[in-house]
Amino acid sequence: SKPRILVARAIFPDIVDRLREHFDVEDNPADAIWTPHELAARLADKDGALTTGSQRIDAALLAAAPRLKICANMAVGYNNFDVDAMTSAGVQGTNTPDVLTETTADFGFALLMATARRMTESEHYLRAGKWTKWSYDMFAGSDIHGSTLGIIGMGRIGQGIARRGAHGFGMKVVYHNRSRLSPALEAECKATYVGKEELLRTADHVVLVVPYSAASHHTIGAAELALMKPTATLINIARGGIVDDAALAVVLRDRRIAAAGLDVFEGEPSVHPDLLTVPNVVLTPHIASATVPTRRAMANLAADNLIAFLGGQGPLTPVNQPAPGLRGQ
Ligand code: GLV
Ligand code: GLV
Repeated sequence: SKPRILVARAIFPDIVDRLREHFDVEDNPADAIWTPHELAARLADKDGALTTGSQRIDAALLAAAPRLKICANMAVGYNNFDVDAMTSAGVQGTNTPDVLTETTADFGFALLMATARRMTESEHYLRAGKWTKWSYDMFAGSDIHGSTLGIIGMGRIGQGIARRGAHGFGMKVVYHNRSRLSPALEAECKATYVGKEELLRTADHVVLVVPYSAASHHTIGAAELALMKPTATLINIARGGIVDDAALAVVLRDRRIAAAGLDVFEGEPSVHPDLLTVPNVVLTPHIASATVPTRRAMANLAADNLIAFLGGQGPLTPVNQPAPGLRGQ
């Protein structure tokens, strides 16, 4: 008989159909948000799962799912996985790198431009019927071309943003990362490695693209925000929890930095109430990878990981290396 899998959230129906050619599939076309207990009950007899960032995969869940061998996350980030618990339980994790890099870099740049040029704030003003006359400083923002772009987290997406800034907009690019890029990549991105403090003090626009972990929690808090220029903008397309959202709302309200653009939030889909009341922040609902072709590519890559792995081949894009055999694979 076919292996059994759970598709934990609604995804493209034709990709579910493709999975049905290989597996006995339970899916979630109504896109219900299951509690951890409901998810565990559905995984009790499954060999694999297609997950998203909204399913927490931890030791308690794995104990309730004794047949589960693989969780294929439809996201590049996988902080919803307790990777150590998965590895010791013998469960393979996979993610969707590469297929979303350029789309996500496009969005990071769009959010930077919308923030620096106050596009959503000015649209609200226009829609509210408040536009009655020209004025010299109406929604005057900050320049992008020729400014200094500071990127924290220089993985594939960070490099994509660097290329856009350096080659498209003549920006000076500085970056901070756990490790330096090769000289060849630094040259291609026209990016200079600096310490985090120097980056925060000198950048006109700071873009965050680091993966979330305990070590990157509140990479930007009150102390870091205090280092930034009063004219600077901060963009978070990484993960909620990389920024201390409460501290950010205070500096935005007090105009200690000019503006922020946020696609991700601590505790999302809840948004810190103080961020909803300050005008100088552009807010989007975690959509940086959301184009139709890219979301399809992500779903197909997650499906291909399930097909390859449960078909006895290795995973295509693994995030861990569990010892084989722990779950009878
Ligand atoms: C989106 O946030 C992702 O990790 O793919
Ligand atoms: C993050 O995972 C990136 O690719 O930049």
